[in-house]
Amino acid sequence: MESSRLLIEGGRGIEGEIQIHGAKNSVLPILAATLLCGDTSCIHRCAGLSDAFAAMRILRSLGCEVSHEGSTVTVNSANAEGDIVSDGLMHEMRSSIVFLGAILGRVGRCRLSFPGGCELGPRPIDLHLEALRWLGVKITEDHGILDCTVGVRPQSADITLSLPSVGATENIMLYSALGSGETVIRNAAREPEISDLAGYLIKCGAEISGQGTSTLVINGVSELHGCEYSVMPDRIEAATYMGAAAITNGELMLKGINPADMYSCMSVFSEMGCGVYPYDDKIFISARKPVSAVRTVRTMPYPGFPTDCQPIVMAVLAKSSGTSVIVENIFENRFMAAPELRRMGANIKAEGKVAIIEGVKKLYGAPVRAYDLRAGAALVVAALGAEGQTQVSNIHYIDWGYESIETALSSVGANIKRV
Ligand code: UD1
Repeated sequence: MESSRLLIEGGRGIEGEIQIHGAKNSVLPILAATLLCGDTSCIHRCAGLSDAFAAMRILRSLGCEVSHEGSTVTVNSANAEGDIVSDGLMHEMRSSIVFLGAILGRVGRCRLSFPGGCELGPRPIDLHLEALRWLGVKITEDHGILDCTVGVRPQSADITLSLPSVGATENIMLYSALGSGETVIRNAAREPEISDLAGYLIKCGAEISGQGTSTLVINGVSELHGCEYSVMPDRIEAATYMGAAAITNGELMLKGINPADMYSCMSVFSEMGCGVYPYDDKIFISARKPVSAVRTVRTMPYPGFPTDCQPIVMAVLAKSSGTSVIVENIFENRFMAAPELRRMGANIKAEGKVAIIEGVKKLYGAPVRAYDLRAGAALVVAALGAEGQTQVSNIHYIDWGYESIETALSSVGANIKRV
């Protein structure tokens, strides 16, 4: 089925203020975590993302009552006795594996289909499974189905992840929050979204310490209760709009964010020659002159430069003076925007982990296709800075992670509409 498209007339100056939504990568694990508390939680600042709606459908299928008003989602998980996530629901949301730890923690069993590869290449879950096995979960894998049952849980477990996987850290936290033992996660992911999940769980009565560091300690408690919680701001959405300002020589005030989570992004935009000014919960970006190339940008786990922002920065650097290099260290297949940007006149060579971007003076509008969420957003950014009309198709990918990107961008002067 052909989804809607975005039509963007480039070359308009971008100026104004944008209010940033709650973070996609936080709301999904937090919605999964509502399963554990067994009563009602009100989650505020839930952006209207297709991924969040998919998470709500999964919760309903497990027996939760879920209502959604504005940006508040209320989940009552008192009767959440379900232990199966259907294949259809698993495929609706790329990160649905985060339900595994929560369902196991709640009902002690879980059956779901193995998440296959995705647009970013294979998405292995070996670290999730290895850690859960260590924590006493019996897991069988049969014809793409994972069958998991909680066996004897160790009184204490000390788990060292071989890489700081965000999803594995979340699944271990979710599984260990209820129970009686102590779980230590070493080389844990330090992403702010992990601290946000810990923040929600702690408000529900969980005992978690060390969030934001690479050693997390979770002391299982016998029960959790519901609470009201506001999801942290979306740092990737904020970086996307910084890209929009940079490529259009515009100026934007991004409101409702936590600049401390964004130093690695802010420094790349500063290096391009943009003025980047963090205030309490805002960032002002001023890009009154054309951007220049940067030294090598390397994607790294937090606090390094986020892989999710890499395609956005690639789009901006495509129209810059000089040559930039990007090294993608996290995902195999994250240069999906490059061939589409080339259709718009960019000069980008990408091989393996490395992309070399020879900045050009002008990009030109073209029909292009989003092949994943952030590559899609990168094409929108490039189109804003291109001459003429760009048509971005496949935009259901963009809707996974942005609540009406066209509304935000038209409010600051962009000529963009959904058809
Ligand atoms: C999360 C984010 C995603 C972000 C990524 C890295 C969500 C919903 N998604 O994805 O937007 O780009 O973090 O910051 O929060 N790996 C393994 N084995 C595993 C698990 C991961 O080899 O069991 C590898 C992956 O292939 C990848 C790397 O570890 O190369 C990082 O993956 P991970 O941190 O787990 O990312 P996600 O949680 O999937």
